[in-house]
Amino acid sequence: MKILLIGCGFVGERAADLFHAAGHQVFGVTHSPSSAERLASLKPWSVLACDVSSAASVQALREQTGPVDAFIHCASSSKGGAEMYQAVYVDGMTHLLGAYPQAWPLYTSSTSVYPQVDGSTVDETSPAQPDKETGRLLRAAEELALTNGGAVARLAGIYGPGRSFLLKNLLEGNSGIETNEGAPDGRLLNQIHADDAASALLHLVTSKLSGIYNVVDDARMTQRDCLEKLAPLFNLPAPGIKPPDANRKRGWTHKHVSNAKLRSTGWTPSFPDYFTTLEKDPLLASSILQLVIDNPESDLPRAQNIVLIGLMGSGKSTVGRIVAQMLNFQFVDTDHRIADQAGCSIPEIFAREGESGFRVRESAVLRQLLGLKHTVIATGGGIITRPENHPLLKHLGFITWLEADTSLLARRTASNNERPLLRGEEPPLEKLKRLIQERAPLYKSLADLRIQTDELSQEESAYGVTESARIFFARRQQTASEFTAP
Ligand code: S3P
Repeated sequence: MKILLIGCGFVGERAADLFHAAGHQVFGVTHSPSSAERLASLKPWSVLACDVSSAASVQALREQTGPVDAFIHCASSSKGGAEMYQAVYVDGMTHLLGAYPQAWPLYTSSTSVYPQVDGSTVDETSPAQPDKETGRLLRAAEELALTNGGAVARLAGIYGPGRSFLLKNLLEGNSGIETNEGAPDGRLLNQIHADDAASALLHLVTSKLSGIYNVVDDARMTQRDCLEKLAPLFNLPAPGIKPPDANRKRGWTHKHVSNAKLRSTGWTPSFPDYFTTLEKDPLLASSILQLVIDNPESDLPRAQNIVLIGLMGSGKSTVGRIVAQMLNFQFVDTDHRIADQAGCSIPEIFAREGESGFRVRESAVLRQLLGLKHTVIATGGGIITRPENHPLLKHLGFITWLEADTSLLARRTASNNERPLLRGEEPPLEKLKRLIQERAPLYKSLADLRIQTDELSQEESAYGVTESARIFFARRQQTASEFTAP
């Protein structure tokens, strides 16, 4: 099929990738010529610029693309008020329908068109008469798609790597459970992972499903359910209550949106609820932690753990065990977890899945450590090679880099066959020298403390780690009192 995607934002770009991968001819459309140019250099599908609020611009687009089988209007609505909604959505749909009279239209709307505040479950037959002007304009654009035989996808709150207001607000201390008489546990949250939103659009178009479809995950979850589970995962206290935000652009609502209709047509979400996503999506937690790190106004929460990094043989496991004993902490070794979960040894994982397969498992284990406290975490020497691990490591605790001379590392690792990276063609000492050259800048950028261990006993190194960690956490006042009493 020949598909026109209006809007290559958070969902549109993913949808365009999916249509292309499924063998369709894709034209992606962005608002500005400069973003069209940028995207075109990255994508295997065609990218064009068009201002859908202008009839002439849409006519010019039609001349470039020729007729198409279907168009999807999924331009972002994150900015702008009612005037913008009128221009982009209502006028935009009118222009597209005029220029592409043969195409099957799909309009991506929002579950905010359901104004219910009583906590009821709503489906596509429920009243959708929004109180806000913006909501009425979404409905007007929906009607244009429906009266022309097309479909409307009502998308819940979209989140994914780099975008999750829920987690970002929590980490930055801006969360609250918005209660009132009808919502004693706060609003019901309705969310959808961007990949699932994109897969729903592909499904609707390729199955030509006309009519209205809610696109939302499987979870029924109040703000309280969610935040009381999410906060401890990031070592934060559960947020308190606050009054409903009367200024939400699309209105304050309290309802559970059902996805039963879309599911009954054969679509299933890959990310059925937010907590499954935190484990499954390799980038969600990490990317939101990175946003907090990048925000000069906010302080990254640091869990009360000690994270040991450094090359193979630097003593992470042995020193780590002593530190754990000194502080009465638990001890976790990421390599052991990886091997346990794989049901085989690390050399076997390398042999079967290559280093890249091992790294995928290593990152997954790191995500599983979210929520730990009072634990010493010994990591594999290469954990710092994946940038997405950095924000997680930083959040997970006080990071110590154990350093040792490469000849000492070579001696320590010589008798052990568990390190596949030292069993290749290259002599171990050469390999270790190369690894430290590559990795030293990464260890350095992450470490809160570095200890040169050559001249120290394991106990002395452990003592250095323990005392420095005490000072670190004592300085971070909010965590100081809890640190010494696990
Ligand atoms: C590796 C270090 C190993 C293990 C794997 C890869 C590395 O852990 O994760 O063999 O890339 O440096 P140790 O540092 O505990 O030996």
